[in-house]
Amino acid sequence: MNPSKIEEKARLGVSRVPKSLELYDRAKELIAGRTHLFGRRAEMHAYGISPIYSARQQGGYFWDVDGHKYIDFNMGAGAVLLGHAYPTVVRAVQDQAAQVTGLSINHPLELETAELLAELVPCAEMVRFCKGGGEANAVAVRIARAATGRDKVAFCGYHGWHDWYLAANLASESTLSKHLLPGITPRGVPRELEGTALPFEYNNLDSLRQVLKDHSGEVACVILEAARSYLPEAGFLEGVRDLTRQQGAVLIFDEVVTGFRIARGGAQEYYNVIPDMATFAKCISNGFALGAVAGKRAVMEVAVDSFISSVYWAEATGLAAGKATLREYLNQPVCAAVQDFGKTFVVGCLRVIAECGVPASMIGLPFFPSLAFRNLAPELLDPLVTLYMQETAKRGLFGGPGHFFCFQHTQSDLAAVVEIIGAALATIRKALDEGDISKYLECPVRQSGFRRLV
Ligand SMILES: Cc1ncc(COP(=O)(O)O)c(C=O)c1O
Repeated sequence: MNPSKIEEKARLGVSRVPKSLELYDRAKELIAGRTHLFGRRAEMHAYGISPIYSARQQGGYFWDVDGHKYIDFNMGAGAVLLGHAYPTVVRAVQDQAAQVTGLSINHPLELETAELLAELVPCAEMVRFCKGGGEANAVAVRIARAATGRDKVAFCGYHGWHDWYLAANLASESTLSKHLLPGITPRGVPRELEGTALPFEYNNLDSLRQVLKDHSGEVACVILEAARSYLPEAGFLEGVRDLTRQQGAVLIFDEVVTGFRIARGGAQEYYNVIPDMATFAKCISNGFALGAVAGKRAVMEVAVDSFISSVYWAEATGLAAGKATLREYLNQPVCAAVQDFGKTFVVGCLRVIAECGVPASMIGLPFFPSLAFRNLAPELLDPLVTLYMQETAKRGLFGGPGHFFCFQHTQSDLAAVVEIIGAALATIRKALDEGDISKYLECPVRQSGFRRLV
């Protein structure tokens, strides 16, 4: 079914999410790019079935504008680890807002929040705040370039939307296919940046060695996520650390997802490999706007001489949220509880996968496990993921194929979700047996990769 048919159904009042679709129609006219996070585009989900706009969020749930309740296994793309509207964080923000946000001069919360970060994160001798993950990475790259006097950046994985990163697709538009999404055209990125962002492969030390050899003395920094869908093989992170030292390049861990989640002190604590700098956002402030760069004094001090400056970076409600959130991480076993929850979830999913006989497995770390279909023709994957999203959304689960959890999800949420996933997989099994996925799809096949919508 194509999107216009779905919209037609919505107008006749037979869509599952008519109010969401009505708002999305307005967004098509009014919001450049339709949504502010690419992954929230309705075309990426089961269009006309999945919720598009939320009305309210609480704990581990949200309610869409059409009145459906969902167990939220997306949790703000992983930004909310404690749970939506977590009381101590909300109170801290409300109290701070009542005292205004302190922008005329500096606010002591900058120091208080930085001190907590330094207590939690091994490399954090100095801290710089901003408002998001991509921004934190842009700041870190700027500092690394300033500290080394070099321009080039070796990277692996996803690090946001900024020019320094998307420059990777200037030489070839498929460079980012393995790291971010296929189909990204670097429109608007200055051509002069071609050759400044150099990809290497995760868990392949030789590929980094080659990049550093080919650009000897030119690489300012190496940036990567220490772990995400895959675990580092023995010696990989240590090897990256050694290579960067030998080459005089700054090592940056992007801990936007791993921070506070894989271990309280992030991947650097978990794997005991300490980078020169690390970037944080998302669950640093449980869904309020805050990002941070933390790092060794020798590198971070260079920020004094590089113009890195913005009015809102030290806006105090974000800092208050950060301080309250980091305190929870210090005082409660949030990280361990979420990991245990994830492990039990994976066991439940593997059970229903086996019961349904669907060719799939669970990949990734316990805090972010993804359902991955296996041994199927590639052209079946998007239809199957769409069917999965459709069948889970209809039953009140939002998330997937990747799943993020929070501290407030309960064991009964977990049991309900495993049952929902089992029911979705049973439908998928039928579709595969009959060799006809479209028969079961009530919506168009989702868009994966990046595509122009206008
Ligand atoms: C590893 C990583 N780095 C950076 C970002 C960008 O963060 P933001 O969306 O806050 O700019 C993300 C977002 O998903 C991410 O997962």
